[in-house]
Amino acid sequence: MNLKKLYLEYFESLGHVVIPSAPVVPENDPSVLFNTAGMQPLIPYLMGEEHPFGKRLCDVQKCIRLTDLESIGDNTHHTFFEMLGNWSLGDYFKAESIEYSFNFLTKVLNIPVEKLAITVYEGDKQIPKDEVSANNWLKHGISKERIAYLGRDDNFWIAGESGPCGGDTEIFYFRSDEEVPRIFEPSDSRWVEIWNNVFMEYYQDKDGKITELKAKNVDTGMGVERTTAILEGVNDNYLTSIWAPALKTLEKITNLPYQGNEESMRIILDHLRTSVFIAADPSGIKPSNTDQGYILRRLIRRAIRHARKLNIDIASNWEEEIAKIFILEYQDTYKELKENEQVVLDVLKNEKEKFNRTLEKGLKVFEKLTKNMQNVDGETAFHLYDTYGFPIELTIEVAKEANMSVDIDGFKKKFSEHQEKSRTASAGKFKGGLSGDGVIETKYHTATHLLNAALKIVVNKDVHQKGSNITPERLRFDFSCDHKLSDEEKQRVEQIVNDWIKQDLKVDKFTMKKDEAIASGAECMFIEKYPDIVSVYKIGDVSKELCGGPHVKSTKELGTFKIIKEEASSAGVRRIKAILE
Ligand code: SER
Repeated sequence: MNLKKLYLEYFESLGHVVIPSAPVVPENDPSVLFNTAGMQPLIPYLMGEEHPFGKRLCDVQKCIRLTDLESIGDNTHHTFFEMLGNWSLGDYFKAESIEYSFNFLTKVLNIPVEKLAITVYEGDKQIPKDEVSANNWLKHGISKERIAYLGRDDNFWIAGESGPCGGDTEIFYFRSDEEVPRIFEPSDSRWVEIWNNVFMEYYQDKDGKITELKAKNVDTGMGVERTTAILEGVNDNYLTSIWAPALKTLEKITNLPYQGNEESMRIILDHLRTSVFIAADPSGIKPSNTDQGYILRRLIRRAIRHARKLNIDIASNWEEEIAKIFILEYQDTYKELKENEQVVLDVLKNEKEKFNRTLEKGLKVFEKLTKNMQNVDGETAFHLYDTYGFPIELTIEVAKEANMSVDIDGFKKKFSEHQEKSRTASAGKFKGGLSGDGVIETKYHTATHLLNAALKIVVNKDVHQKGSNITPERLRFDFSCDHKLSDEEKQRVEQIVNDWIKQDLKVDKFTMKKDEAIASGAECMFIEKYPDIVSVYKIGDVSKELCGGPHVKSTKELGTFKIIKEEASSAGVRRIKAILE
């Protein structure tokens, strides 16, 4: 059964036009690192702009969701997945949407209605309880016990903190060989969410104020991996035909069975597949220490860590073998995979070699340093970071394997003490490393935020960061822009940044929940990974970005900002190199 084909044909027969998948790296949306849902590229149309293909659309969208990163290793989550979506832009609403979903599941896919359960929005002060949806589900034969009313955290959908939004109704499937309980308990993990129908009739602004949208829209999303598992009768997404060729190859490479090695095998497969899609994206993302590049780096390195756990010979071309299978599997649908095949393979290989050198050295040192320790103290964690380029997240992971914990606060303390000392010592003391956050790099981090904000003023507000790289000598910043900057534009950018520096703007850091931060849609720089909170840096009133930092305390510390080069980076992307004097 070809789920994607059946889905598109079904919605086409109901008057929907099939639109192509947008790239994984959004083209015109600086607020997110990756497309996280099919609706993301459609935001202007959900807001009321007329779509050239009409009011009924459907597609298969490539999505990358990093909120699920910590769950990777279980049987239902993936960092990359395909989402089936159908939209009504001010056309049909709740009754038809529910009818279409119900019929597709029960009549086209022949899923028994007894295996389904539903959640609907319980309402709040501004939005009424969604009795309309509940009644429609009842009408189709879903029993009352299988409908649960849930609140804002579960049944209200918004991409980020502001934008088109609304209550939703979610469809769950009982994925287990056990008897289906009569009463639906949403917290029972045997019930897996497969489809989400969002009734997007509101707009939420940055202050949380809700107003009605011009039109009442429908935005639905159904996960291909999960639904395929249901259709193929397996309780583990990785046992579907989607993963079968890659899994078989991995079993052959490791000479180990999947059973008993699930976690590492899932992580290797998931992370390599996502890396293939990021590296093949036309935006030309390469592993780096910021933004999408940092995610790519983390995914590749985490896959390698687990490959080592399974005793794969890292120097062999295991990663190429697996990547080629994903390319083959998806190349007919996503042309960029074939076109950029060599780029993808080079990215994986280069990053592997780089990481391997760091890792070999670092692991030996880790063992030596922690031999007589119960837990890793802050000083040791800092030493590993400072001297061997071991990011804190890796130390945490390696320590976990050795049943040790890491004194993260102690690490942070050492880190800031060192920064303090470095202010008077020679700059650029930190060597290469993975994150390279010495005192001068810290200044460049802050300068990068200012540059980003200044470009939005001088060029236009849609400029967004495509990449960034910092060395003790300079910052490099890639951004979307369709023209070479004129001398005047460059001067204005310099002038604005230097004005801000002179104004001695305070750099404030505050923290928020990681999930909220990622969903909130600000630009992120995942320099360090902490369990469930991330930092947000605000510079005066001119810039606010999610970022692991570190940053200076106030802008006066930066000196004078100067652009030394402005050049093309790739199609539609310009690159600025700048220094602080
Ligand atoms: N936007 C909703 C989601 O991602 C429905 O597509 O779940």
